[in-house]
Amino acid sequence: MRRIKRHDRSDILIHWFNAACWLALLVTGVGLVANPQLNPAGDAYPGAVRSLFGGGPALLAVHIGLGIVWMAGIVLYVAVNFRGAVFFLKEIFSVSPARDVMWMVKKMALMTVGAKPLVKAGLTPDLPDQGYYNMGQKAFAQASVLGGVVIVATGVVMSLSDMVIPASMVWMVGWSVTLHYLAVGLVFAGLLVHVYMAAISRDERPGFVSMFTGHVPEDYARHHHKLWLDGLTGDSGGHK
Ligand code: HEM
Repeated sequence: MRRIKRHDRSDILIHWFNAACWLALLVTGVGLVANPQLNPAGDAYPGAVRSLFGGGPALLAVHIGLGIVWMAGIVLYVAVNFRGAVFFLKEIFSVSPARDVMWMVKKMALMTVGAKPLVKAGLTPDLPDQGYYNMGQKAFAQASVLGGVVIVATGVVMSLSDMVIPASMVWMVGWSVTLHYLAVGLVFAGLLVHVYMAAISRDERPGFVSMFTGHVPEDYARHHHKLWLDGLTGDSGGHK
């Protein structure tokens, strides 16, 4: 079976670096939410994480440091693989309303209520062909890019709140806290589906393996990403 190149080494590195940063930022960030009515992990968690790091201010410094490392890694990736970053953004934000929305509707129906309701509604159960990413992957990637921008921008405002932001602009800090929390919640909700689809669902197992090896079998590419496979030229050895 021919193997098709799907990810460069830098794509794989940035993905797992991003995942590790997300995990570390979540563990430390949820520990900073000392309000038991807001903290999804309950009352005891913030106290436990704070004492592990030597108190609230130290935990905050670690959280901000991790955010800076996260951003530096992404800037480095863009510098090393600018073409890959542009390709990624172009792919995830190009949506064909007819093909992609129909894919999403059918996929969600097939994963929940099955094919019968689709047939009753006069639709066939087969999914429209997809490109490099399917519409589910695009939706999550869009949320994680836009959510990431909001998280970083609001994180910068909060970090600078004591230093450069005047008292008259304190509303900006209040909004940053709310938006930071909401954006993390949105991406985290998508992440639960992403991890299920990518790492647990058997159907996507070759895609999971490709996040380590960089390659997928040709029949998987044909079945899941036909428009991408059809668009590859023989001499590109796969990839983009
Ligand atoms: C244990 C955690 C994770 C696993 C197992 C995982 C797995 C994967 C896999 C297998 C792919 C490749 C899909 C393909 O190209 O065929 C992928 C892509 C991707 N991952 Fe993750 N991932 C994890 C965490 C994260 C995190 C924390 C984020 C960001 C918040 C993230 C964002 C993305 C994005 C944007 C893509 C490209 C679009 C997509 O395939 O959905 N991943 N991931």
